[in-house]
Amino acid sequence: AADDTVEILGQRFPRDKNTNVTTTITAKTARLLHRQPNHPINILKRRIEAHFKNYKVVDSMNPAVTTQQNFDSLLFSADHPGRAPTDTYYINSNTVLRTHTSAHQSEVLKTREAEGYLLTADVYRRDEIDVSHYPVFHQMEGLRTFDRKNLEAEAVVNVAGTSIKGAVLSETNPVQLAHTTREAELVDQHLRHSLEGMVRDLFREEKDLEIRWIEAYFPFTSPSWEMEVLYRGSWLELLGCGVIQQKIMDDANNADRVGWAFGLGLERIAMVMFDIPDIRLFWSSDERFLSQFSSGQIVKFQPFSKYPACYKDVSFWCNQGFHDNDFAEIVRDVAGDMAEDVKLIDKFEHPKTKRVSRCFRINYRSMDRTCTNEEVDKIQDEVRRVAATTLGVELR
Ligand code: PHE
Repeated sequence: AADDTVEILGQRFPRDKNTNVTTTITAKTARLLHRQPNHPINILKRRIEAHFKNYKVVDSMNPAVTTQQNFDSLLFSADHPGRAPTDTYYINSNTVLRTHTSAHQSEVLKTREAEGYLLTADVYRRDEIDVSHYPVFHQMEGLRTFDRKNLEAEAVVNVAGTSIKGAVLSETNPVQLAHTTREAELVDQHLRHSLEGMVRDLFREEKDLEIRWIEAYFPFTSPSWEMEVLYRGSWLELLGCGVIQQKIMDDANNADRVGWAFGLGLERIAMVMFDIPDIRLFWSSDERFLSQFSSGQIVKFQPFSKYPACYKDVSFWCNQGFHDNDFAEIVRDVAGDMAEDVKLIDKFEHPKTKRVSRCFRINYRSMDRTCTNEEVDKIQDEVRRVAATTLGVELR
């Protein structure tokens, strides 16, 4: 029966006790915004592809991946928090909607088809609700490998004039045991030099763009970095990157090579480059949105008037193990894109019973019309009902 399976792009997966995807989410797998001509996500993708000319473009990987692909192949430990069902959409115990494009690193490397790859895909994360978070977004993964025996010739770059300072190695951001210091330095500098070049090309309008490198940690790279740019007065995190763990290279039939990887969020960059104020707009089929980008160029979005907001609060006593994301998921499922923002506005512990009460404020606002109070009340009632029955909370 349809009931005991989850369907993703025509493929059926058996449900089990760990299934937590809903049809609101699985329906998004068919949208493929990154391949929709002249969608802002597609324009940005093509811009970066044009910069990395000789890299092989991959953009049709299936979003349903095994936990092996999404986590184990990338050396996530068994108890890594990224695996938590509060953060990840499980199709069943061993299949997830990919949480990042890195899930495809191994299979792409195994092909040995090119020295460089740019892999773009929709990725899925359970998260909070506000104008910059959506449970589906798009990432681009860049991969570049070098012949280990010819590294000096293939990877050397001139870092003068870049923001790359000092040695790569530090105790907190170490060179891998499998690499010599020189190997790590060459790959790391090629990585950061390439990314600075790409970002300066992308933000060519901003003269004197300031870039900084923050030490980071990912199980699948070392050393690792996050790149931030100073944009209109605040530091904006654009991407994560690093030197690929040699075990991943070895396991992917690339023991003779060393390489780097980066992963960037396309919405985050598109929102600032196109001046798009609300992440839900990317999912809109409103011509007032889409027609603005028909030139295929990076142009500033001209906002059309917003419809009125409607705020509703809900308070309840929570059980142990309650997670804010579980409530957000219910709001997503019941209200869909009507939910603009969900904020925890109050939380307190009962002095005697020690039970915790939470109050959330939901901002309902349609992207394409004015909603009546009665209509929003119905949705709010349904949110309350589903929260009480599925989360076992006690409404107040
Ligand atoms: N996959 C990482 C993330 O989603 C980003 C990343 C990609 C980091 C490749 C390092 C190398 O946060």
